[in-house]
Amino acid sequence: MMNKKTIRDIDVKGKRVLVRCDFNVPLDENLNITDETRIDGALPTIKYLMEKGAKVILCSHLGKPKGEAVPKLSLAPVAKKLSEKLGKEIVFAADATVVGENAKKAVAEMKDGDVVLLENTRYRAEETKNIETFSKELASLADSFVNDAFGTAHRAHCSTVGVTDYIDGDAACGFLIEKEIEFLGNAVNNPVRPCVAILGGSKVSSKISVINNLLEKVDTLIIGGGMAYTFMKAQGEEVGNSLLEADYLDYANEMIAKAKEKGVKLLLPIDTVVAKEFSNDAEHKTVGRGEIEAGWEGLDIGEKTIELYSDAVKEAKTVVWNGPMGVFEMPTFAKGTNAIAQVLAEIDATTIIGGGDSVAAVNQAGLGDKMSHISTGGGASLEFLEGKELPGITCLNDK
Ligand code: 3PG
Repeated sequence: MMNKKTIRDIDVKGKRVLVRCDFNVPLDENLNITDETRIDGALPTIKYLMEKGAKVILCSHLGKPKGEAVPKLSLAPVAKKLSEKLGKEIVFAADATVVGENAKKAVAEMKDGDVVLLENTRYRAEETKNIETFSKELASLADSFVNDAFGTAHRAHCSTVGVTDYIDGDAACGFLIEKEIEFLGNAVNNPVRPCVAILGGSKVSSKISVINNLLEKVDTLIIGGGMAYTFMKAQGEEVGNSLLEADYLDYANEMIAKAKEKGVKLLLPIDTVVAKEFSNDAEHKTVGRGEIEAGWEGLDIGEKTIELYSDAVKEAKTVVWNGPMGVFEMPTFAKGTNAIAQVLAEIDATTIIGGGDSVAAVNQAGLGDKMSHISTGGGASLEFLEGKELPGITCLNDK
């Protein structure tokens, strides 16, 4: 269904192949990787290229270092994990400028089948602005380019898009992108109804902007997590110290009106677990809708909301879930997220999990193998489900 060249279509033997992966993985305070889904997702492409005798140069971003070489956002932990998984020592090109002397030296010393991982592409300020200097430098390291970063395919950055303007050889997609597009494509083009989308998480502004499109597609839209408070506030309810994006209040109200007009059921929390502070051991209690007092912040959905949301999900034949319902990293505030994961595991429906945090939550609950598809893309999978073009795929060579 995809008209783009894949790695099967290009000659890689003895070639330096720059592979853009999405190694934007969650790390704990000791820099341990807490969810390896994205690393596992990249392995088929990396192994294929190694077996075909390519010189495999991997790159990725991690977090948002905003053009600074922030040590705790180094890709070093990913290099270590990859070496373990591949059973071969890969070379980590520690380099504050990503493509400086260390990187050049590491690439120059590669033999066929070797793997080098470059440092976090967002250590460079040009990356997220897609400025040509960095794109050219990346391209100069390799003969051809493979994009396998499905999770970052919605970003037009140097390492996902700009580099394709300067690479001498082919620009093709890897196996992960191919699989994601095939799987999610079915859900977009022919969803079995009722179709329910569940949105949550703290990336309020980036997710709020997709609701407009989802309201065209789904039968029910469930809102939880940080973004719910902006909707509540828009409805005139007090939200205390909860996450809030004041600039999006009008937008939230427009979406509530649009849902009514389209006949889409839009569900907001009817009760909330609130805490005195952002900590697992914080004093907390459950309050009803509109009852969040000053000095308290909402950190999870309450029991009544869990019941409401579970009932809506049980009717569905297709469910797309992006973003946790609360601060699921803290056990005290993980109940809402875990309950949703449990319901999805039990229903007879196509269940698609998108978003690093929802994936981590599903895996944390040990329910990963109960879902139909676990996407490695958060924003990317949602944008794809909206029918938007993903620039990281559009820029690749056609077959
Ligand atoms: C993601 O985690 O959604 C992707 O890696 C993209 O990350 P970003 O939202 O920081 O661009």
